[in-house]
Amino acid sequence: MTMRLLWWMCSLTHFVSLVSADSDCIGTWCDTCLPVTIHDAPGVGFDLTPLYGTAVVDYYNGTVVEVAKIRGNPEYLELMARLATSKPVLQSTRNFMHELPSCLVEYLFPSVWSPWRDWWRWLNVKLGRPIKADGVEIISDLLQELKIATEKAISQPLDRVAVTEPGFQALSPAMVNAALRVLGLRTWLRDSVYYPSRLVEGDAVYAANGYGLCINYLDRFQCADEFANSPAPTVFVVSYNHNLLYTSIMDYATSEAFPYVSSPEAQLVDYELGLDNLLENDQDQTVFWDRLRSQLQILPRESEYTITHILLAGESVTHPRFLASLRESMSELSLGPATAKIQLAIDPTFAAARGAALYARRRQEVPSDCYEKLECEEMRLRERFHTSTREELR
Ligand SMILES: *[C@@H]1O[C@H](CO)[C@@H](O)[C@H](O)[C@H]1NC(C)=O
Repeated sequence: MTMRLLWWMCSLTHFVSLVSADSDCIGTWCDTCLPVTIHDAPGVGFDLTPLYGTAVVDYYNGTVVEVAKIRGNPEYLELMARLATSKPVLQSTRNFMHELPSCLVEYLFPSVWSPWRDWWRWLNVKLGRPIKADGVEIISDLLQELKIATEKAISQPLDRVAVTEPGFQALSPAMVNAALRVLGLRTWLRDSVYYPSRLVEGDAVYAANGYGLCINYLDRFQCADEFANSPAPTVFVVSYNHNLLYTSIMDYATSEAFPYVSSPEAQLVDYELGLDNLLENDQDQTVFWDRLRSQLQILPRESEYTITHILLAGESVTHPRFLASLRESMSELSLGPATAKIQLAIDPTFAAARGAALYARRRQEVPSDCYEKLECEEMRLRERFHTSTREELR
């Protein structure tokens, strides 16, 4: 019953926002052009893993810089462990169902950092109740450190980022967005109804490895069309850190990266199989490694579709013994030889943040709800020329 009501309210808000966006819908031309300062600005991506956060900057000239890796404080680790292992508020495994509450929150409180949360904290202070830092504050603490490191790297204030996260069902995009608002940062996710509301690590890593990237990214719909006839991949993402293992299956509708609905189809989280546990345990080593191998096989075995890609993330995933175990366990699954090939093209520690930065970089060049007129590129050429001559004269 509640689900139904939520669904209707969500559809209604979605419909209203579509109608109200009618005058500047994506089928129309923009009135203004993006200035060079936005169009050529570096794209910034953050990845919030259960253990640390990473920041990557993707510059207009194509240079990609891994800016920072910052360990979460004990509160952050505890929060993430809780979110990783708890069920979402709504007990439903369907992806779109899970989208509902956050979507509602986003539409009801579009730009303010939820007034209810503020009010609730204010009330508690008045009543003399001690208030512990809540999830939003804990997350914003780590985001702030990433922000500072990034601003130093790009030597300008940071305005907008794309944040990717593991996709735990209890960690809602609304929570991450609220944490960004605390810091005065805007997000590249769901800034208009045409763009996705969430970017999970699996998707970001898929894109960072060069998959599903359209050529014509200036046009949201043409971009999707490029992949209309491609077979849908089933991606197995293995994330490994010193304190935990988590694996996800990403099941796409087409092979396009950054899909509109981004959520792992299935996920496995195991805090007992982190690298530290495996290395510390002298006696039962074989038992542990055997368990690791079988845990790695669970999702691929249960998956309705055959795995087409195996992608890696996390700072411990390149440990030789872990890689050997992974290779062994995957070869037992008799996937095709091409699939079983485990790719190590980019550093798995920064893979997800690279994907997020790439997403941000591409979005810098595109207005979110209209098409730029053709003369915009010419205008920017002139603008860039003027800036460079002014700088030469200095
Ligand atoms: C790209 O731009 C960045 C920042 O302005 C600069 O540090 C880097 O050297 C440039 N790379 C190339 C290949 O020009």
